[in-house]
Amino acid sequence: MRECPSPIISASHRPNRFGEDMTEDFARVASLSELPVNGRKLVEIDGVRIAIFNLDGELHAIEDVCTHDGGPLVEGEVMNDCQVQCPRHGARFDIRTGAALSMPAFEATNTYAVEIDGDDVFVERPF
Ligand code: FES
Repeated sequence: MRECPSPIISASHRPNRFGEDMTEDFARVASLSELPVNGRKLVEIDGVRIAIFNLDGELHAIEDVCTHDGGPLVEGEVMNDCQVQCPRHGARFDIRTGAALSMPAFEATNTYAVEIDGDDVFVERPF
């Protein structure tokens, strides 16, 4: 049973908007096969490190920066189905919303929309 409440924001598996001109706003970052269920991948778009998590089949992208002191969230333990614990000092973040859930972090980390087109995974550009 999932312990996480319903996500406030879920960018994964939204209707594909390709066909519209969204290529400027999104960057192809991976093949879907590189992100198996419960997998993760670190990518970089325009100099911003972004961690993509596959939570039980849903892809979510957050900035790979703990707002406490810059810890690499992609290296953290995933717990309660939707949270990642910073490997440095243990702050937890909601992977779906970026919200800081525990001390010592107070501020959310950024989230980015994810789009899937066939086997291609696209993530919203940070700026
Ligand atoms: S750097 Fe993440 S909890 Fe301190």
